[in-house]
Amino acid sequence: MRETLTIKDTRLMISEWKSEGLSIGFVPTMGYLHEGHCSLIKRAVSENDRVVVSVFVNPAQFDRKEDLNRYPVSLEEDREKIAMHGGDLVFIPKAEEIYPQGFNTLVEVENLDRELCGATRPGHFRGVCTIVNKLFNIIQPDKAYFGEKDYQQLKIIKTMTEDLNMPVKVVGCPIVREEGGLALSSRNARLSAEERKAALVINETLREVKKRVEEGERSVGPLRREAVEKINLVPGVRVDYLEIIDEKLLQKVEEIEGRALAAAGVFVGKVRLIDNIKLG
Ligand code: PAJ
Repeated sequence: MRETLTIKDTRLMISEWKSEGLSIGFVPTMGYLHEGHCSLIKRAVSENDRVVVSVFVNPAQFDRKEDLNRYPVSLEEDREKIAMHGGDLVFIPKAEEIYPQGFNTLVEVENLDRELCGATRPGHFRGVCTIVNKLFNIIQPDKAYFGEKDYQQLKIIKTMTEDLNMPVKVVGCPIVREEGGLALSSRNARLSAEERKAALVINETLREVKKRVEEGERSVGPLRREAVEKINLVPGVRVDYLEIIDEKLLQKVEEIEGRALAAAGVFVGKVRLIDNIKLG
């Protein structure tokens, strides 16, 4: 596996592959890789001639300094995992390489960022869109892989590539979970054993919402209220948001009619975790 630190070297490698007519799959990450990330890499390897993984903790998408400063790093293990799953190139730029002095451009997708993480993390998706746009321009992949765990992110990136006619196919991949249902996340590393147990209530509650919808409940008000109450009852756990939204528009609905999604952002201790489940 190759490793690049600069945009120039990355471009050289990519242009060599492109000149040989090879297809390129891309998996953007912020590192501290787990099975969720690895599922994206495996999928990319199965569908492309060459696979590039980026590892970059993007300061522009963090709304809380504490979250950025405490974001876990494990470059050695990350390299091993990427190589083991068949990645061909890992791109690990420094912040100065990505955001040199005088950097002044931001990319924003409107409307889809009104709810969920967009509502509670101002500027977050602008930071995500900007970095993904830059990485797409550097790597010029045929396909790029994103997890449904960050459902709003996936939708926003898909919209950005369509709206801006970017020649990249964005592929969504299913959420990978621990046995108890907790969605894998790099941030889980910051949970104590007790907090990890408490965090199980997130997926448990979302599954309960789904079950009640399957049993015929259509009214969002009571579903939402009860779910928030159940989660907030667990000591050390606090709902940041829990919404039932239209799967396409990402807007709140009052009655569940078409395809909907229940999505939650929850503080467990100081760590903010997200999860979602498709309804109906
Ligand atoms: P990061 O949180 O490292 O996630 C990288 C990719 O892995 C994202 O597409 C995310 O949805 C996916 N992923 C994370 N946990 C997953 C799980 N349990 N199951 C399936 N997929 C999972 O998301 C980001 O980084 C950044 O915002 C990024 C897109 C790299 C831009 O900086």
